[in-house]
Amino acid sequence: MPGDKSISHRAVMIGSISDGLTEIDNFTTGSDCQATLQAMVSLGVEITRSQGRLLVHGRGLRGLRTPPGPLDAGNSATMIRLLSGILAGQSFESIIYGDHYLNKRPMRRIIEPLRMMGADISGVDDEYPPLRIRGGDLRPIRYRTPVPSAQVKSAILLAGLYADGTTTVIEEVKSRDHTERMLQACGAWLQSCRSEAGFQISIRGNPALSGQRVVIPGDISSAAFFLVAALLVPDSEVVIEKVGLNPTRSGIIDVLREMGGDISVENTDEISGEPVADLVVRSSALKGTTINGEMIPRLIDEIPILAIAATQADGEVLIAGARELRKKEADRISVMVENLNRMGGKVRELPDGMVIDGVTPLSGALIDSAGDHRIAMAFAVAGLLARGETRISGWEWTRTSFPEFLKILNSLRSG
Ligand code: S3P
Repeated sequence: MPGDKSISHRAVMIGSISDGLTEIDNFTTGSDCQATLQAMVSLGVEITRSQGRLLVHGRGLRGLRTPPGPLDAGNSATMIRLLSGILAGQSFESIIYGDHYLNKRPMRRIIEPLRMMGADISGVDDEYPPLRIRGGDLRPIRYRTPVPSAQVKSAILLAGLYADGTTTVIEEVKSRDHTERMLQACGAWLQSCRSEAGFQISIRGNPALSGQRVVIPGDISSAAFFLVAALLVPDSEVVIEKVGLNPTRSGIIDVLREMGGDISVENTDEISGEPVADLVVRSSALKGTTINGEMIPRLIDEIPILAIAATQADGEVLIAGARELRKKEADRISVMVENLNRMGGKVRELPDGMVIDGVTPLSGALIDSAGDHRIAMAFAVAGLLARGETRISGWEWTRTSFPEFLKILNSLRSG
């Protein structure tokens, strides 16, 4: 699998504000993370490649330079939200903009806490990109996030590096913790605990960060398409090596196993502070389940492909408590429901999820991916199972996270 997208973004950003060299192996090829690379170069960071490895020549916490022009986040919410946290700590002004889709995604969730910390930050209607940011030395805050979001948490923690004192973020449900793990590996002081208030994470400002060697684990969100394809296509056995199994990301494996999926985890290891393992997956008969509560952030990006699996599970799959899906690259609830019903699926839309009845035979159809990479790839897997031809519009968006997807899928053909 290509390198994990979430960890790739963080490795480049945190490497850029560390002292010394950060060497990154298995950096993703997706265009989202290329946007982050480009932005860090515009901010004065030298980034080179040597023998397939990315070398980030860190400039230290306060070494970034005024960019020559606005920074392009492309389609990437992770890029714009995390980088805003870093830019909130810079005394120069920068502007970040996105593409047509990103410019419709909510940013008030980062604007508010970064303002509370003392940054001068504004967006269109105080909500949408482009964002204009000027910061400097910040105040520490204690902040409860309105939605469980690793992007919001990370923006605040990264801004907390520039605050004089200890910044604390509290979330009701724990979101992915790659930022915390990487900052700690680079020498920052962080402390996390679970309290009655929720999950709490604190960071102390003004640390000396030092560059690291980072080996990026395979992206579990990309592996998810092959996990489901192998479970559903009869007589399959697929081995996926060195997949990141951070517990804040591995909900898909727990749920697919609970549904009856034959998935074994082998050669468990830890690389660069992140758990990894090989996954062996074999065709299985699936049954219905309920996915909600604390499970949702652990598999939020895998819900499109889980919805495809659900059409082939015996009984009902209920997905609830996932309203955030409407704020992703597309409204993933309505786009999944509409496209699945077009293929003959039995799916009902809920305000915060969907109910899927199975087992339902699927028929080929015209699918509109609505510019969403994960919806496009999920329906490629549905197309493997369907009678007749499936055509997916907007396939080019798969380049944002997984340009190799089709090549790998084709390589799994038995003859
Ligand atoms: C991400 C966090 C999640 C996820 C996104 C990547 C990250 O978004 O959906 O694909 O790298 O921090 P939210 O923080 O909005 O939940």
